[in-house]
Amino acid sequence: MNTPSRSNTLAILISGRGSNLQSIIDAIAAGRLDASIAVVISNRADAPGLGYAVRAGIETLVLDHQAYRSREDYDRALVAELQVRRVNLVCLAGFMRLLSPVFVDAFPNRILNIHPSLLPKYPGLHPQQQALDDGATVSGATVHVVNKELDAGPIVLQREVPVIPGDTSDTLATRILAVEHQLYPDAIAKVLLRPLGPAPKRRTHVP
Ligand code: GAR
Repeated sequence: MNTPSRSNTLAILISGRGSNLQSIIDAIAAGRLDASIAVVISNRADAPGLGYAVRAGIETLVLDHQAYRSREDYDRALVAELQVRRVNLVCLAGFMRLLSPVFVDAFPNRILNIHPSLLPKYPGLHPQQQALDDGATVSGATVHVVNKELDAGPIVLQREVPVIPGDTSDTLATRILAVEHQLYPDAIAKVLLRPLGPAPKRRTHVP
């Protein structure tokens, strides 16, 4: 695999299990995704996914949101850590926090999110249960660009997953997750192959 150029420097943000993070690590290792992961950041110190990053030799950072007075303060700290590492593309992988404009404006068109439904259907929490409650016969997974509205930015890739009679939220989530693990690396590769828009502003002073 070629050494990734600077413009393919990723950060992965997680809050928990980290199976999508692992799928991105695997895709890079397999040469399916030409990128490098500069840092994995979690807002929770006990996120199991941090272990995947450590095992892959990737820098990890815990930024506990409870230590900050406001969402904006927290996002400013996140942005500073990302800019110091010259991250070009931020990938939210089960990062269960709303982003403020502070964050979104610092990385315009450079933040991706994965969501376990066919957006715009079933945004927000418990999308698998929303699909079941709606009587859907098909759901799926979406990777989209993050903007200031929840789960509403431009769609990069989507893949369908059938809802099977007798599905519970858990069984549907498991089948969607298997699709997510293919979809997210594919979507990142797609985004990296096209211009990402204006570069994030660099800090001039690094403490
Ligand atoms: C994934 O299903 C992801 O789509 C979902 O959280 C799970 C994280 O799993 N994200 C959202 O619902 C965001 N709204 P992981 O930690 O094993 O990657």
